[in-house]
Amino acid sequence: MRYPPLDSSQTGEILSDDLFYAFVDLIYRQTGIRFDKESRFVLQRRLVHRMRALGLPSLERYYYHLLYHPDREREMDQLIDLVTTHETYFFREKRQLRCFVEEIVPLLVQERRAEPARVLRIWSAGCSTGEEPYSIAMLLRGLPVLTGWQLFIFASDISSRALQVARQGIYGSGSFRDMEPEYEAYVRQYFEPTPDGRLRIRDEIRQMVLFGRVNLLDSSSLALYGWLDVIFCRNVLIYFDTEAKKRAIQNFYERLRPGGFLLLGHSESLLGLDSRFQLVHFRNDMVYRK
Ligand SMILES: C[S@@+](CC[C@H](N)C(=O)[O-])C[C@H]1O[C@@H](n2cnc3c(N)ncnc32)[C@H](O)[C@@H]1O
Repeated sequence: MRYPPLDSSQTGEILSDDLFYAFVDLIYRQTGIRFDKESRFVLQRRLVHRMRALGLPSLERYYYHLLYHPDREREMDQLIDLVTTHETYFFREKRQLRCFVEEIVPLLVQERRAEPARVLRIWSAGCSTGEEPYSIAMLLRGLPVLTGWQLFIFASDISSRALQVARQGIYGSGSFRDMEPEYEAYVRQYFEPTPDGRLRIRDEIRQMVLFGRVNLLDSSSLALYGWLDVIFCRNVLIYFDTEAKKRAIQNFYERLRPGGFLLLGHSESLLGLDSRFQLVHFRNDMVYRK
């Protein structure tokens, strides 16, 4: 593989202004995540890590590798893993989960009871290592109101490594931090210990979730989900700039059935981004509805 000649001012591990913005732009186009000047050294550290792993002599060479190397897609995956934040845990944001189980699901079931196909389709968008969709699956399994209903739980992320962990379904104690005592029974029921002291999700829950690699900004690959009743997209949009947020929300709007729900993280809102959703006040929480 031949690379364009190196500019001698840009050798080694130094990230020049031009190169910094070239990486920022490349990452933004791939993920919707825009690194700002303040995060320059964080980004540089991560890039250097990959540069060294590939045995390349400079960050500029690494940039060309991402653009032109036959293996560039695999390397872009590696870089995406490094620049995305995968912080998550089981039963996160309990008031919203309570609202989902006790209010949203019964409402949807009630409204759709006359339809010939009794199907609920739920999507965890930006599912990271799987704690969110598995929490949804545990909460819905055996829920009396869903008797006779078919359930689809889709879960997606842009990070292949996160999805690999999710599909494996083995978790350490960090994944159970901040968990309310009301959820401990689910852990006892739906996990089994592994020899190294972690917990493995039981197959009956693992098989309820369909994982896939999807970029939320890519509307064509979202089409494969068809219509959705509920979209969870929590703690993902915070990393996007306004334009990327608007694109993702437009994609959610297109995928939701009329009357479907969009559940964002508690620090996130649609204010200034989209006025077509209605903010619904339930007993436990406020959520957006198409
Ligand atoms: C902080 S985690 C949120 C996990 C979970 N939703 C929660 O609230 O606990 C954010 C996830 O969004 C994913 N992500 C970031 N940009 C994305 C994009 N453009 N498309 C799909 N997923 C993306 C990251 O890989 C990461 O796993």
